[in-house]
Amino acid sequence: MTDEAVAALIALHACAPREGPGDVATLERMIAALGFAPYAGPTRAADLGCGSGATALHLAEAYGADVLAVDFAEPFVARLAERLAEAPPARGAVSPHRGDMLAPPVAPGALDLIVSEGAAYNVGFATAMKAWRPLVRAGGGLVVSECVWFGARRPPEAAAFWAEAYPEMGSISDAVAKAEAGGWRLKAAERLAPEVWWTSYYDPLAARCDALEPGADGVLKAVIAETRAEMALFRATSADWGYVYLALDAD
Ligand SMILES: C[S@@+](CC[C@H](N)C(=O)[O-])C[C@H]1O[C@@H](n2cnc3c(N)ncnc32)[C@H](O)[C@@H]1O
Repeated sequence: MTDEAVAALIALHACAPREGPGDVATLERMIAALGFAPYAGPTRAADLGCGSGATALHLAEAYGADVLAVDFAEPFVARLAERLAEAPPARGAVSPHRGDMLAPPVAPGALDLIVSEGAAYNVGFATAMKAWRPLVRAGGGLVVSECVWFGARRPPEAAAFWAEAYPEMGSISDAVAKAEAGGWRLKAAERLAPEVWWTSYYDPLAARCDALEPGADGVLKAVIAETRAEMALFRATSADWGYVYLALDAD
């Protein structure tokens, strides 16, 4: 992706509540499947590929966790710092860190919990699974989301889109196998409900497309068109693909 395209994507996401689909209810079910309860731990957590940090903030607020929030996009890390300045969590703490989520500044075994939503595919899901396991203590866990095919059906327009966007996209079983090969044990798996894609992500993004489109040209105009095409594809074919959330135990 060119720098211009990255800048256009960042402009499109400015002030969005989050940079990918996800919600607190799904996250909390996954964390509960790992045996963690609000206010009873985890205490040391990381949100890897955190974007502007909606989940990192929630982990601090609801679980009292000290959260290392890592992203390599400077504007998202800066936005998280702003959010922290505007409304610091009443419990726990969030430390924004600009860097590679495959090499966060964390000692081996130092974390109780990693959460990573919509980000692992960027570095290869199997690579992320292997890299993150040593960071978590025995008995800790990982909640991760991954874009997958739900079954054998591959609508041609979706197959063409994903062949370009994420050629390695596999099934839920493929994602679980990659996690197990990385040293994790599956505790729970759940599809993210399609309506959550809309409420948490696509609806705010569509509003932003509407606002920016009249003055947009060049790369931004193209990125808006691609974003609208992705939303239309999701509307038509979301029975066949979407996010699976995995709750994975480090035993
Ligand atoms: C789809 S967004 C999801 C953001 C956030 N987790 C959420 O759900 O709102 C993926 C994020 O991963 C980040 N990212 C991609 N590759 C990364 C890497 N190697 N290290 C750190 N962050 C990365 C991107 O900058 C982006 O913010």
